[in-house]
Amino acid sequence: MKQFAAFRLDTANECLWHDGVQIALPPRPFMVLRYLVENPGRLITHDELLDALWPETYVQPQVLRTYILDLRKVLGDDAGQPRFIQTLPKRGYSFVAPVSEHDGDGRDADVGGDGSAGKSRNIVGRDEELSCLRAEAKRVEGGQRRVIFVTGEAGIGKSALVDAFCQRLDAGWNVARGQCVEGFGGKEEYYPVMEALGQVCASADRERACGILARMAPAWLAALGRQSDAGGATPAAHERMPGDLCGALEQIAEKKPLVLVFEDLHWADDSTLNLLSALARRRAAARLMVVATCGPGDAAMRGAGEHPLKGLKQNLLMRHLCTEMALAPLSRTAVKELLAREMEQEALPPGLTGFVHQHSEGNPLFAIAILEHLIARRFLVRAGMNGSARWEPTGAFEEMEADVPERLAQMIELEIEGLSTEEQRILGAGSAMGIAFPAWAVAAALEEDAAEIEEACAGLARRLHFVERGGQDELPDGTRSEFYVFVHGLYREVLYRRQAAARRATWHARIAERLGDLFAERIWAVAREMALHFEAAGEQGRAVSALQSAARQARDRQKHEDATLLLEEALRMAGKLNEHARGAGVRAIREELEDTQETTSGGTERLRIVQRKT
Ligand SMILES: Nc1ncnc2c1ncn2[C@@H]1O[C@H](COP(=O)(O)OP(=O)(O)OP(=O)(O)O)[C@@H](O)[C@H]1O
Ligand SMILES: [Mg+2]
Repeated sequence: MKQFAAFRLDTANECLWHDGVQIALPPRPFMVLRYLVENPGRLITHDELLDALWPETYVQPQVLRTYILDLRKVLGDDAGQPRFIQTLPKRGYSFVAPVSEHDGDGRDADVGGDGSAGKSRNIVGRDEELSCLRAEAKRVEGGQRRVIFVTGEAGIGKSALVDAFCQRLDAGWNVARGQCVEGFGGKEEYYPVMEALGQVCASADRERACGILARMAPAWLAALGRQSDAGGATPAAHERMPGDLCGALEQIAEKKPLVLVFEDLHWADDSTLNLLSALARRRAAARLMVVATCGPGDAAMRGAGEHPLKGLKQNLLMRHLCTEMALAPLSRTAVKELLAREMEQEALPPGLTGFVHQHSEGNPLFAIAILEHLIARRFLVRAGMNGSARWEPTGAFEEMEADVPERLAQMIELEIEGLSTEEQRILGAGSAMGIAFPAWAVAAALEEDAAEIEEACAGLARRLHFVERGGQDELPDGTRSEFYVFVHGLYREVLYRRQAAARRATWHARIAERLGDLFAERIWAVAREMALHFEAAGEQGRAVSALQSAARQARDRQKHEDATLLLEEALRMAGKLNEHARGAGVRAIREELEDTQETTSGGTERLRIVQRKT
């Protein structure tokens, strides 16, 4: 139950309690109050309220006012000096009283133990996922056990979604949560299970739960007792039989369906994974739902080599014993909603949504960090007086440099620093290629053995959540080389930026040279890429010559269109040469263009355009 001042909101019985006295409320005002109490301390616009409560029905906005008036009467609130519901004129309402979680029998508790569920705010763009989870919950209520993996890259909103789902469950459910912890959690057996079990044994139903555990899984209860009472003997992990605990949990859930949330399962110890496997495979009917969050697809972070979670998940998926919900990036509309929510402002400055959507690629964590960054850098400022203050841009977003927000850069830096020096070098060299990098290019940049680099890259893609296998390139010499992709441009940018300029230049030059060797027979096809690498290496002269020789090769092969395009590019780059080289370079290229043009129809027109531009 949610508690505020002397009131308690009873969602199971849809009523309000005041100092132990039950107050009945009509359904609609009750829903409004519930929504406000579940989203305290922020602006809730009329639209949000209407969309959240009656998405399919048209409700006159005026009617909301009547409900609020009714609620104020019940709460004894004053619109002029609100203690509970504040009206923000023309915008909406805000629930201003502190709200705590109350377990119904006198103790204050946070749903989810760590308070994360209590803190989570309304989320955007996940209606479909929430209704899927709700549908799964309905099945569980009917006795079908369900295991759901919520997967996706860091910051995509796995925890936020699960929190929102748990928050919306009614009081007829029990929620217990176990967090897997990097490094440490992998060593201590059943770490997240014990955390969740501790919550089951601290819930409103604790006496019954402990009774069942004492009967069916005494070793587990004893192990739990040890956590609060250092005196008792702790049964070793091997004495805690997964089957015993499964049976006990199933029985506990008979009365109230139980959702076990395991956060960041990629850091779980093997025993926890075994228990989860047992829970998923048991055939008896059970009102048990396991929701586990973990990194995307095949990526996993603990240790080198194949992660046991990958095998477990695939195995369960194949047997239809679990479902996977892979979270996609937020849509542009959802990013807009997220910004409006964060800024507490419905109408956003023009261009802001596009800018944030583009640079965050729909990742909500990144989107929020970019917004904070814009505010910190004073690209967005608060203008106007208190009541009518709004966020306004200080320039056009299209013209803003999108550097990596400090908070994100630090987060990514920390991850990178956790890697070995060799791994950092490999990813750094990969970042010189761009968002996708083939293993051969990394080998070239580092002047190392291609096969070894292939292997190292494959290992990294298995282990890291931000690098994925992209596919295979077939090289002209017939060999194949894997290529990899940074799942988010920001990772590539941080990796690239942290390299010393001289090192980057060396890598670029080596990659360009290797491109030239590998594709010697089809140089015209890769010359632009080569030229870009030479340019990034600060070697404009070589960039121009690469384009020129590629143009000659194209012309020899009757590829006049390609030759012209390459020469145009050469002309553009020659413009950047120093004064002396530029004059000679441009003259030579023009002559070559003229030669090419003589052999192509329509060339004159193109040449004129080129001459005008330079
Ligand atoms: N759909 C959403 N609407 C609004 N805010 C969101 C949404 N999804 C995530 N957020 C916000 O983005 C941030 C990151 O989300 P969250 O922690 O849930 O990501 P995650 O996928 O669990 O990341 P990690 O892999 O690091 O655990 C949080 O501040 C969260 O409140
Ligand atoms: Mg999370």
